[in-house]
Amino acid sequence: MEPRRLHVACIMDGNGRWARRRGLPRTAGHTAGEESLSDVVRAASKREISHLTVFGFSTENWVRPRAEVRHILGLHKKLFGRVKELNENNVRVNWIGRPFDEPGAKTPLYVQRAIRKAIEDTSSNTGLVLTVAFDYGSRAELTRAAQNLVRTGQELTTQNLASHLYDSSLPPVDVLVRTSGESRISNFMLWQIAGAQIYFTERTWPDFDAVELDAAISLVKN
Ligand code: IPE
Ligand code: IPE
Ligand code: MG
Repeated sequence: MEPRRLHVACIMDGNGRWARRRGLPRTAGHTAGEESLSDVVRAASKREISHLTVFGFSTENWVRPRAEVRHILGLHKKLFGRVKELNENNVRVNWIGRPFDEPGAKTPLYVQRAIRKAIEDTSSNTGLVLTVAFDYGSRAELTRAAQNLVRTGQELTTQNLASHLYDSSLPPVDVLVRTSGESRISNFMLWQIAGAQIYFTERTWPDFDAVELDAAISLVKN
C-alpha cells in the first residue's frame, strides 16, 4: 500500500529571538529563517509529505517596524525566486492570503509578481506542494468564505464553506508545527487544523531542521 502522504503546516516563529541570542539584528534572524525554510523544503520533498504550508507573514505583522517589514518582503522575493532549486526538488509553489485586489490587502506589486512567477515557473512539478501563507489571517479567510456564500445565495454548510477557503484543494492539516516555545495558533488555518496533531518545539525557526521535521511527522506516522 502507498504510504500515507502528509500535510505539514509550520508557524515559523522565533527569528527575532534567534538573532537576539547571537547579538544580531532581527533582520539577520529573518534571513536565517528563510535559509532554514529552504532546507526544510528540501527535506520535506524527500519524505512522505505531499503538502507543506508555511506561515510567512500574517495580516497582523504589517504593524512591525517599517525596516523589518521591508526586509521580510525582500526575503519573500528571494524565497519565491528559488525556482531552480524548487524545480530540482520537483516542488510546486502555491500561495494563500488576502487576494491582492481586496480592500485592506497590502502586498506590494513586486511581491505579487514574485508570487505569480514562482507559481507559474513551478506549475508542472508533481512533487511536494509548498504553500506560502503571506498576508494571511484565518479569520479574514473564514469571513470572506462566509461572505461569498451569502453574496451568491448558497446554503451555509460545512462543505460549501470549505469550498470558499483561499485554496479549497488543500487537504486537512495532519501536523501543525510551532517553533520557539510558543504554544499559540496565532490565527493560522483555524479551519484546516481541526484534526491536526500539534508539535511544539523550543527550537527557534532558524534552528528547525530535518531531525525536528521527523519528530513532528512521527506524531502521525504509523
Ligand atoms: C517569525 O519570527 C517571523 C515572522 C513573524 C514574520 P518573529 O519575528 O516573530 O520572531 P520572534 O517571535 O520575535 O522571536
Ligand atoms: C506568527 O508569528 C506569524 C508568522 C509566523 C508569520 P508571530 O510572531 O507574528 O505571532 P504572535 O504575535 O507571537 O502570536
Ligand atoms: Mg514571533
